[in-house]
This record gives sequence, C-alpha cells and structure tokens, in this order.
Amino acid sequence: MPDVDDVQDGKDYHLGVPMQANAFFLKGSNSLDWGMKNRLARIFNPATGKTVMLAVDHGYFQGPTTGLERIDISIVPLVPYADALMITRGALRTSIPAEMSKPVVLRSSGGQSILKELSNELVAVDVADAVRLNASAMAVQVYIGGEHEHQSIGNLVKVVDAGNQHGIPTLAVTGVGKELARDAKYLGLATRICAEMGAHVVKTYFCEKHFARVAASCPVPLVIAGGKKLPELDALKMAYEAIDQGASGVDMGRNIFQCEAPIAMIQAVRAVVHDQEKPAKAYELYLSLKKDAARTGSPVTAVPNRS
Ligand code: R5P
Repeated sequence: MPDVDDVQDGKDYHLGVPMQANAFFLKGSNSLDWGMKNRLARIFNPATGKTVMLAVDHGYFQGPTTGLERIDISIVPLVPYADALMITRGALRTSIPAEMSKPVVLRSSGGQSILKELSNELVAVDVADAVRLNASAMAVQVYIGGEHEHQSIGNLVKVVDAGNQHGIPTLAVTGVGKELARDAKYLGLATRICAEMGAHVVKTYFCEKHFARVAASCPVPLVIAGGKKLPELDALKMAYEAIDQGASGVDMGRNIFQCEAPIAMIQAVRAVVHDQEKPAKAYELYLSLKKDAARTGSPVTAVPNRS
C-alpha cells in the first residue's frame, strides 16, 4: 500500500524560469520522438556528436571473410572500444555475449550472396525480432542505380515504417555496384534519396572530391564505410577527411578487423573521430599501442594467425 501519510507539498517551483527546450544534438533529428532520440544518443556520443561504429555484418553476403572467421574470438575483444556494433542477428545471438552494453545496429536486409546479383535483397528481419534483440537501429542496404533499385528502396521504406512504430531508427547503407562511380554526384544522389525516404542515418563511402557537398546535402547524420583494407595511415587520413568535411562518424569494418593490430587501430580511429586527432598523430598512436600490446602479450592484438 503506498504511503500517503507524509506527502510533502512542493516548495520550489522555479517560477519565472522557463522550461528548458534543448535542441537535440544530431542534425535533422530534432523532431523525432524521445525513444528514437535516446537510441540515436546511444549510437552517437552526445559529447562529440560522433560515432565509431564497428561493422562486422559482412558475413550476410560474403560468408566467413578474413577477420570474421570467428566473431567470438576476433570481434568480442574489440567491442569495448566501439560506440556501436553493426551486426546480423545470427552473429549477435551466437557470438556476442548478451552482457555487452553497446548499442546494436542490426543488419536487417539481405537475401543474396557474392555468387549472385548483390542488389537483389529483401527485408531480412521482422521488427519484432529487432525489439527482442534490443536493437538501437536497423540497417538496410539501398542500391541506387542498381538492378534492383526499386526493390531496395522498398525495403528501406518498409523498415523505416516498421521502426517508426517502435521508436527504432533506420540506417540506410548505400550499396554501390561495381559499374557505378563513387563520386560526389552519385553519392549525393544516393544519400539524399535515402534520407528523403525516411532513413535516420545514412552510411556511404568517402570520395576525394567534394565529399563536403555530399555531407551538406544529406539532412541526417552521415557515417562512412571504410571499404576495402587500406594501409593504416591511409584509412586514418580518409576518416579524418570525412569528419573534417561533415561526416558524423565511421561505420568501419575491414580497416579495423583486418589490421594486424585491430585493438590499436580502433583506438587510433577513435582519436581521429572523437578528438579530431591529425592522421599522422593517430598513426603514431596506432604504432605505439601495437608495440605495447606486442610487448605485453595482451590478448588479440592481432587476429590469430590466419596463414
Ligand atoms: C556492406 O555491405 C556492409 O554493410 C559492411 O558492413 C560495410 O560496408 C562496412 O564495412 P567496411 O568498412 O568493411 O566497408
């Protein structure tokens, strides 16, 4: 029975002090509902407005690619250094301990493989399962200019509508076919379409020329994929340029987990993304963390010998 004997009257109403009405820190997100904002604030650090998302969902069409042969061994030690984990439900349930407290960006489209046409995807997760998995966002690939462009936009629309009912934001990933140029004109078209279709965050590639225009014309936060493995300094330069030109973070996979020292690399990427560390300094940090880890024999400085 609630205690009603000692209910004290309120005393300090701060009369004359207007109710605070803070703008939400992420671009294009101020009109979203509380749950949606709260999930986005788990993915993006409110102190910096940025995120280092670790993408390990490649198996959904590539199978056990280098570095992801054993997610339980190679990826779990990286999780504490990531702001969010982009992953399939199969990998999450089987290989990631539920005690992990990082937000999950759940890969929610699929249905093809590297043996077939990549744009031929379907919605591969029911929103009820995303809720069950406590997902902080769902991710859908969109293939602008691809053979199944219309279908992939349809997938995005379905996931956005389902997510909106539960306060779960949608990350649209711009899949770029081999025949298409990854230039500012194409990326600007693809990212803008995704945002206009309702995506709350868009993931795309960095381009050398005019990336700032791509970021400026996308009305929601943009994160960049790392793409194929580059030398570490080049990957750090790319992340730096992207952030400098308006990206809100990275959703990086191979350039972290295919490194010789993935834990060192993710920390160097964090320095660039959250502290605007210059690439040369971040690379020094990578080298020194790599050296320390090798000296102390700390676990999984590198993915176990794959030769
Ligand atoms: C691609 O279809 C997947 O979403 C990957 O997770 C992705 O592109 C990001 O990984 P990476 O940095 O390896 O390009």
